[in-house]
Amino acid sequence: MAKQERDPHTGRMTTGHEWNGIKELSTPIPRLVWMFLIATLICSLIMWVLLPAIPTGKSYTKGLLGADETQSLAVNLIAAQKRREDWVQHIEVTDFSVLAADPKMSTYVEKTGKRLFLDNCAMCHGATGQGGINFPNLTDDQWLWGGAPEQIMETLRVGINHIHEDTRYSVMQAYGRDELLSRDDINNLVVYIQSLSHAALKADETKQTGLAAGAALFQANCSFCHGEDAKGMTSVGAPNLTDDFWLYGGDKTSIYQTLQNGRQGVMPSWDKRLTLAERKLLTLYILKLEAAVNEK
Ligand code: HEC
Ligand code: HEC
Repeated sequence: MAKQERDPHTGRMTTGHEWNGIKELSTPIPRLVWMFLIATLICSLIMWVLLPAIPTGKSYTKGLLGADETQSLAVNLIAAQKRREDWVQHIEVTDFSVLAADPKMSTYVEKTGKRLFLDNCAMCHGATGQGGINFPNLTDDQWLWGGAPEQIMETLRVGINHIHEDTRYSVMQAYGRDELLSRDDINNLVVYIQSLSHAALKADETKQTGLAAGAALFQANCSFCHGEDAKGMTSVGAPNLTDDFWLYGGDKTSIYQTLQNGRQGVMPSWDKRLTLAERKLLTLYILKLEAAVNEK
């Protein structure tokens, strides 16, 4: 029988085993660890009895409590769906003015509207909605097709020059290419159109002949879309030409290009791709962007 003794360095007892003079200390597992192991074992036994636990081929032991996560998940999902439907229906039936005045809605528009805008519109209109060449700025108060909520909703529903059966047609003809106007006529029109937003050009003595010819050509060929005062017409999507906001550029070359080759901007219809509530949220979001820019 091996002899147990106290190790002089650590103060612990040895097991009594000895190999070539090396003695083994007796270091049993601490009691606290034992207690912990026993406690977890008891807990797991209780849980085996109460909760679903052991697979039995095609089924499993259901436990005395009858708890079922799949069922409670389904119940939660139905409740969440119902809350969402109520919310969507609220957006669909409520007037724009009421929605715009509701602070809770406002936070929702800022979050959800922004996400919808970034996902669907930002690639053309820019992340801040300020557009660029060929793509209109949606945050200024210059609207091709009207900036009332109902008009924006309609633009989103049918698109512009798109395949939707009710699409808005935006037609700016190729006056040069289709030989509707001569090169001189177009040059005179360019001078006249630039003068509408540049007072200095209007006063320029050397340009008076061109200006007079351009003005007459404008009244004869252009005014029924752009208006006699050239301030545009939202019924045909014709832009205001007097405000120095340009969809296709206001320099001589760009305006010449517009008249020479025409312009037909295309905006997809969102009728099939976004729900009514989503289009309404986007409209509220755009109007919010516009209001924020105008405040500055
Ligand atoms: C493929 C590019 C493209 C995408 C994507 C796009 N748009 Fe447009 N959008 C245009 C163009 C181009 C026009 C101007 C068409 C024209 O020349 O009349 C336009 C016009 C508009 C107008 C009319 C502006 C006015 O002055 O009346 C609104 C409103 C608008 N877009 C909103 C949106 C919203 C909201 C989305 C996202 C759901 C979106 N657009 C996505 C290209 C796009
Ligand atoms: C049938 C209606 C119609 C007639 C007629 C018409 N326009 Fe336009 N014009 C438009 C529309 C619509 C647009 C916008 C095109 C687009 O958004 O793609 C436009 C765009 C323009 C632009 C570009 C503005 C910008 O912001 O870049 C200029 C410039 C212009 N027209 C000048 C003229 C002149 C000059 C004439 C006469 C020779 C004329 N238009 C006749 C409908 C018309």
